[in-house]
Amino acid sequence: MNKIKRTVAVLLGIAVLTGCTAEAVQANTMPAAAYVTDETTITTTVTTTTEKPVLTTTITEGVTAAPVTSPEETTVKTITEATTEKTTASTTSVSTTTAPKATTKVTTAPKTTTTAKREPKPVKYTNTITLLGPNVVYTGESFKFTYKISHRNAERASVLWQMVGGSGKLYNDGTFEATAPGIVTLKVSDISNGLSDTLEVHVVDSPEDIDFVCEVNGIPIANKTYPVPKDYNPGLLTETYDAFMELKQAAYLEGIEINFMSGFRSYQEQVEVYHGWNDVYSEQADRVSARPGHSEHQLGLAIDVNSIEFTFADTPEGLWLAENCWKYGFIIRYKEGTEHITGYIYEPWHIRYLGKEIAEEVHFSGLTLEEYLGIDSYYRIEEYVFEE
Ligand code: DAL
Ligand code: ZN
Repeated sequence: MNKIKRTVAVLLGIAVLTGCTAEAVQANTMPAAAYVTDETTITTTVTTTTEKPVLTTTITEGVTAAPVTSPEETTVKTITEATTEKTTASTTSVSTTTAPKATTKVTTAPKTTTTAKREPKPVKYTNTITLLGPNVVYTGESFKFTYKISHRNAERASVLWQMVGGSGKLYNDGTFEATAPGIVTLKVSDISNGLSDTLEVHVVDSPEDIDFVCEVNGIPIANKTYPVPKDYNPGLLTETYDAFMELKQAAYLEGIEINFMSGFRSYQEQVEVYHGWNDVYSEQADRVSARPGHSEHQLGLAIDVNSIEFTFADTPEGLWLAENCWKYGFIIRYKEGTEHITGYIYEPWHIRYLGKEIAEEVHFSGLTLEEYLGIDSYYRIEEYVFEE
């Protein structure tokens, strides 16, 4: 991409990220039908969005972790992006000064914690067995599948694992070793009552071979391990939108304003976003932005709210969101201090829709979604090849 195109990409990327124009929000993030259901609210949101600065992020980079400028030099890069009223373009300035520290540190807001207690639920004894795990495993890797049994003597249950189609190796603790590409059907049976469950697993050589939405325990997933097909364009899902409106209204009744900033992003829009971040942060872009085809926004299940600043976490809105979003089916997806698990730095503004039951479980588990599902998040293809 030539220099001019790259500059445009940065601006477009930031526009998409921040939702800095009404057009951007309408065109890129809201499904038409859903948009009409709360026109007044969304209009207010857009006006608010265009009036204030949206991102001030400081990253201190040191010699120990791939310095952007010179290996001898410790730098502080301050990136300021701002939009002004009736202005559709963003401005970006980058200044480099000497900093005293030699360690890599991304500054984040102080930790927010939740003190809410989980309501005890009545125990149901419906006899079921559910096979848990992803519908994709890479060749040469293994995954330990598990199961969930619901019946009175679940803790004393004994199960049998079987591979009923395809190739690979399945151990009797549910660990599956993927040896050759193809489709494998795994089966787990509860031998105390004869109930069983099966799961079709795609064994693939590379993320590029995945032309379906990856699921783990039946939940659609996009992270660095599990990509989204390039042509997958569902828009913001109705259930995400409806749940967001419920959340927004509940917040409003408590005097809290939660604004929609960015929802669905297509593969092509993520190209612009990722390239924009790459122009600003270089190789560190992978810490803040998903590569095209790896963003949860492309699933139509994620929304960025209010402001993409770390300081958002400690605003009344950020605190309310962290404390309450599970009630409406969302989780804060990239929690503080979990970059080594999720692959991304803290994003107090990014919420992921999971439905009320699972969001509640994940929230009170205190785990990241990766830990809750027992999956990882890292790129199988190390280097990203930029589209020219
Ligand atoms: N910022 C998140 C990780 C995304 O780009 O989807
Ligand atoms: Zn996001």
